[in-house]
Amino acid sequence: MIHINEIPLDFEPRRKILPKIPAVPDEPEMSEFESAFLCGALKTFRPKKILEIGVAGGATTAIILQTLEDLGEPYEIHSVDVAEKFYCDQSKTSGFMAMFAKEKILGELRGTHEFHIGKVLPQIIDEIGGDIDFVILDTVHNLPSEVLDFIAMLPYLKVGAVVVLHDVSDKKFLSSGYRGFVQRGDCGKIFELRRAGSLPLSEYRRVQSQSADGR
Ligand SMILES: C[S@@+](CC[C@H](N)C(=O)[O-])C[C@H]1O[C@@H](n2cnc3c(N)ncnc32)[C@H](O)[C@@H]1O
Repeated sequence: MIHINEIPLDFEPRRKILPKIPAVPDEPEMSEFESAFLCGALKTFRPKKILEIGVAGGATTAIILQTLEDLGEPYEIHSVDVAEKFYCDQSKTSGFMAMFAKEKILGELRGTHEFHIGKVLPQIIDEIGGDIDFVILDTVHNLPSEVLDFIAMLPYLKVGAVVVLHDVSDKKFLSSGYRGFVQRGDCGKIFELRRAGSLPLSEYRRVQSQSADGR
């Protein structure tokens, strides 16, 4: 058993790949520290079959791919996002930054990477199959989304699989945010717009900041 504090931070993959892919404000949606934790966890557990849910622009996907390439071992990774278009910029496809990295930077991969864009996990989990030993779950930060995905993936996880959740300590989303959405009746709207992949960033940030203020 490895304690969470024993996972060595690895800042290298992000520093290596990020300057080479298109720069987009606020992407990746993880801090340097969070990316370093994720890369350190990948290097510690050396997973063979990885599932990423919540891709957005794909900067974190590119960082994960860089980490797996650096490990130098065969791997299989699947990246799932419900939105066909990048939710911050509808002129781009979800995952476009990782697509750029694959086409222009990383060359022939040691492993396989597949995007499942425009789909939710239950639609494609049978196709992805079992023996998943590492998951990165970073979607709406709002109940019940992550819980439902977790239930959907559970039978497909290998015993001892590692599941990394993003933003579990984000009070905006998990406490006041959630209440805020429900109280103002925005919850249905958020889910609906997100399912359609058409939530404008300005609207998303407006609701986020209102929720953080408890308004
Ligand atoms: C916070 S962003 C992901 C950020 C990304 N992991 C990063 O580090 O840059 C959340 C993404 O999850 C997607 N999403 C929301 N609900 C989802 C669901 N149920 N299944 C798959 N993707 C979902 C959204 O379309 C959005 O692109």
